[in-house]
Amino acid sequence: MEEVKISFLGFGNVGTGAYKIIRDNGKDILLSEGVGLKVAKILVRDINKKRDIELEHSILTDKFEEIANDPEISIVAEFMGGVEPAKDYIVSCLMNKKTVVTANKELIAKHGLELQTVARENGVGLYYEASVAGGVPVIKILAESLQANKIGEIMGIINGTTNYILTKMSEEGRDFSDVLSEAQKLGFAEPDPTADIEGFDAMYKICILSSMAFHKRVDVNNIYREGITKITTEDIEYGRELGFAIRLLAIAKKRNNTVEVRVHPTFIPVDHPLAAVRHSFNAVFLKGDAVGNIMLYGKGAGDLPTGSAIVSDIITAYHQRSKHRYISFYNDEGSAEKLKFNDD
Ligand code: NDP
Ligand code: HSE
Repeated sequence: MEEVKISFLGFGNVGTGAYKIIRDNGKDILLSEGVGLKVAKILVRDINKKRDIELEHSILTDKFEEIANDPEISIVAEFMGGVEPAKDYIVSCLMNKKTVVTANKELIAKHGLELQTVARENGVGLYYEASVAGGVPVIKILAESLQANKIGEIMGIINGTTNYILTKMSEEGRDFSDVLSEAQKLGFAEPDPTADIEGFDAMYKICILSSMAFHKRVDVNNIYREGITKITTEDIEYGRELGFAIRLLAIAKKRNNTVEVRVHPTFIPVDHPLAAVRHSFNAVFLKGDAVGNIMLYGKGAGDLPTGSAIVSDIITAYHQRSKHRYISFYNDEGSAEKLKFNDD
């Protein structure tokens, strides 16, 4: 079998999820007849750290240059988190003509335009489906399926950790910090969970979505942000008595030429669909002028849901590099007519 060599930057929750999907679904996610994915190198901070997954030790490295300078590695997926050194590494990969896939919402919200420009100048792609709403495909839907629309409004629950905390506080009367520790153990929380509970993570995500949807640069510094650290079980109880649930909402509205973008805890009527979004699930409402209202819903955090978005982007990256169309048809014998067509 021909193997496409890819590399990971980071191997925590998201990296492990992506690795497991490639390992377990490899045969079913052939890129093309007889072409599969091979994770050739993984960059980590500490190559001696004990990991929950069996790997050839030689696959791990703490030297980024081994990836940047390997001409056989054509696609690099980043899930280290933070702006630096992730940004430097991604720029270096793009300049070395490697396609980049990332889950890093902070980096995309703050430097997406710059990175996209470097990618375009080097004739390679930059994909970031995993950066918003984990396994829920919202980026591609906005970029492709809803292109015909003028989007007027986005509203959503786009942070799994805070939704998990609010659900557990509300339904089980549990203590905030106790549930946060659990969300960290489950792999939902950011490397620094302040980003979740103070609303930064949702702010980065709504920045990315609103910028895409409204075709306008949205400065992350202009987004109103309030987290959930001041919410008490009493607040939740009072809300319930009045028929409301509390959710951390991210809201973006376009009014003529201005956009209003904010993140804050909100009382929602208990019969509203967003009040039914529990645990680490995410939901995004989009209002298009032609299509009307759309709601996307699913697992917004964690290793496999996020790995799903990452591996799907890696496959799209392969198609883009090889100029394949990615719509597939199968013949009666069940073998793939898939990807026999290309643009050449
Ligand atoms: P983790 O903390 O679990 O993993 C981070 C990984 O990056 C670790 O393997 C770490 O190495 C490695 N790393 C960090 N800094 C460096 C460095 N300077 N050099 C080399 N390696 C480094 O984080 P997550 O997997 O949870 O999240 C990663 C990214 O994915 C973040 O951007 C996050 O926002 C995003 N994301 C996370 C989701 C989730 O559900 N957790 C969902 C969607 C996006 P080592 O293992 O040696 O410590
Ligand atoms: N920490 C993030 C969350 C991960 O809880 O939603 C998914 O982006």
